[in-house]
Amino acid sequence: MEQQQIKTLREQVEEALANVRSKEELADFWQRFLSKKGSIPGLMKGLGAVAPEERPTFGKMVNEFKEQVSRRYEEMAAKLEAAELEARNRAEAVDITLPAVKRETGGLHPITVTKNQMIDVFSGMGFEIFEGPEIEDDDHNFTRLNVAKNHPARDMQDTFYVAEDILLRTHTSPGQIRVMDNEKPPIKVLVPGRVFRSDSDATHSPMFHQMEGLVVDKNITLCDLQGMLDEFCRKIFGSEVRTRLRPSYFPFTEPSVEVDVSCFECGGKGCALCKHTGWIEVLGGGVVHHKVLENCGVDPTVYSGFAFGIGVERIAMLKYGINNIGLMYENDLRFLKQFKD
Ligand code: DAH
Repeated sequence: MEQQQIKTLREQVEEALANVRSKEELADFWQRFLSKKGSIPGLMKGLGAVAPEERPTFGKMVNEFKEQVSRRYEEMAAKLEAAELEARNRAEAVDITLPAVKRETGGLHPITVTKNQMIDVFSGMGFEIFEGPEIEDDDHNFTRLNVAKNHPARDMQDTFYVAEDILLRTHTSPGQIRVMDNEKPPIKVLVPGRVFRSDSDATHSPMFHQMEGLVVDKNITLCDLQGMLDEFCRKIFGSEVRTRLRPSYFPFTEPSVEVDVSCFECGGKGCALCKHTGWIEVLGGGVVHHKVLENCGVDPTVYSGFAFGIGVERIAMLKYGINNIGLMYENDLRFLKQFKD
């Protein structure tokens, strides 16, 4: 009879264990069979009904049974623990063979790239950088550069006035005056910066960038300017290009020249880029006018100098084949992305 009780209970244990799917269910199982109030310890309560000589055997059987069930309980707990760990590992698994999500990185603006290249070239030649103010006075922007009031040359540059005699600089040339006011020759400076003119079409923008160069020392001639700009053009447009000077007019230089570079697209044979002339105009320059030197307290009988002004956008447009200056300020990503290294 006692054995029958254990047998029935064993069947119940097996059935219950077979249905355990979680730790909670296993806890219920323990409660039901193994806890103090559970059915296995409960078997001992019936000990009184067992014949006294059989009691030790019965007690031993119950204990063995309890130990077996406890073992089964431990095994089940370990199994559930392992299953839980495996499920967690599976859920958190990272597939290292998947391609990484590419992070979008920014790039430098073509004007910045061009400006940096130009600064690199001139720094290599020993130029120092000077930056002047964007809001200038009439004196620095015009008068002391030998552009007198009512001088027709003021019409060459449509000026934005901020107040009477205060304006947005129309070129980086006032940097020449500011440098010569503060330094004695020998001078070798590069003045990069933003300039402003009331002008807007496919190749002109009300705001654009220039780079001014000024060299003042004894015995500086137009040949020095040509040699230096020849080297500059080769570094920027390729070692095969040649340069030529054409006579021009600027109030602050005498003689004044326009510098052309042989067309780097067609090699000088003539194409759409060079308008079938074989040459492309890239910048203006000349020998610093003696009046400009005098205006800055530099003795023109002792010193001479050359100066030049380069449009950064113009160089960028030529280098990259950009036909509309407006593209450079719209910041359309489809445009900008083409300049990422
Ligand atoms: N400032 C002139 C312009 O904006 C460019 C220029 C021409 C600068 C000749 C110079 C120069 O220094 O010598 O059109």
